[in-house]
Amino acid sequence: MPPASSLSMAPPATLRVGVVGCGSFARFATQQYRTLPGLAVTAVADLDAAAAGRAAAELGVGQRQVDAMLTAGDIDLVYIATPPAAHFRQAKTALEAGKHVLVEKPPATTVAEAEELARLAAQGDLVCTANLVERYAPLADLVKQVIHSRLLGELIHGLFINDASDEGLGRNHWFWNRDVSGGIFIEHGVHFFDLVADWLGAATVVSAARSVRPHAENTAHQPVEEQVCCTCRYATEIPQTGVLVHFEHGFHQPSRLDRQELRLVFERGELRLFDWVFTHGILRALVDGATLDRLADILPGSVVRQVDRFDAAARRMRGRFKSFEASSLVEITFSSGLSKMETYARAVRDLAADQVAWIHDRFHCRRVTAANGVAAVATAHAADTLARTTG
Ligand SMILES: NC(=O)c1ccc[n+]([C@@H]2O[C@H](COP(=O)([O-])OP(=O)(O)OC[C@H]3O[C@@H](n4cnc5c(N)ncnc54)[C@H](O)[C@@H]3O)[C@@H](O)[C@H]2O)c1
Repeated sequence: MPPASSLSMAPPATLRVGVVGCGSFARFATQQYRTLPGLAVTAVADLDAAAAGRAAAELGVGQRQVDAMLTAGDIDLVYIATPPAAHFRQAKTALEAGKHVLVEKPPATTVAEAEELARLAAQGDLVCTANLVERYAPLADLVKQVIHSRLLGELIHGLFINDASDEGLGRNHWFWNRDVSGGIFIEHGVHFFDLVADWLGAATVVSAARSVRPHAENTAHQPVEEQVCCTCRYATEIPQTGVLVHFEHGFHQPSRLDRQELRLVFERGELRLFDWVFTHGILRALVDGATLDRLADILPGSVVRQVDRFDAAARRMRGRFKSFEASSLVEITFSSGLSKMETYARAVRDLAADQVAWIHDRFHCRRVTAANGVAAVATAHAADTLARTTG
């Protein structure tokens, strides 16, 4: 049966949201959704009745059965925040019932399933967007501007190192079970594949590896995959050119040491960004006065420190067979002006608001769509397959 089309009638001014899966992330995200004018969280569901009950009490809404929620006539948008392996079937059921879907990442654990969700959404004129919040972080957009302005010359390579905490991930957590999570690239890597794809376009995975925790098993008697890495090439029109970006994701740190850093190396400088949803960064670059002014325009609130100043005779420099002039070496620090959790919360709200805007106006251009979810899963799947072959 073809899905009901949302084009046939105007959506209500306030979309009624049914939440499926009431674990830790859903509780954070729904607190954000309830502050948005176009959304009203009206019911929750979870396989664990106690989890649903807690969320229902917190939000002051009713509790339902999971399958009933996915097809309920009084729900316009289903927010799915269950573990990854459940996403595909639940999102498909909701789309086939004519609901918009906001699904936690990954949208599905296989490429074919992610593609099927995108196809169903397109057929039904519905949202089916994965919660890929990274590209909504305010600094992510500024970095994109720095890259595309070419103020630092060409981007040459990138390195993202995610040394994440596993303090909340006990041996029996679904995260370690590949049948449920899909593995680290699929469960987690998708965020950063999507972010870099937003900056640089399509990725080709060129190498990948993984390591498992010594002498450890999860409760399904699988090895505990705790560290994965891969290198992707972006813009591959000319073989062996393009930007190489290396991704490292590990879950093995105490929470007080949880840390993330992205480095982007350009011809005339380097950008470093910190935190899981970027909160602050440092740019070190060789500049002239005009370049410095333009960088300051892109990075508002930045603080500039002059590290070195070159007199007229020393301003001509070379790199990559090119010559250029710079009057100083500067270090620019910048920040979102928000704490880590405020930055995260804002990105969660902005992604949802962007989808709601599209539901009301099909000419609204969304920053993330179902197609981006498919691309991120495809890159993650390629990296995962290669890592398990080689590592
Ligand atoms: N977008 C982000 O930044 C972000 C951050 C963290 C987690 N997540 C994603 O959110 C999802 C949930 O993660 P979490 O950390 O909240 O997990 P969690 O284990 O805390 O919560 C999952 C909840 O789903 C329930 N559940 C399990 N199977 C179900 C099913 N088939 N039907 C209904 N309920 C079911 C569980 O009882 C539990 O309450 C995952 O996909 C994860 O990758 C996204």
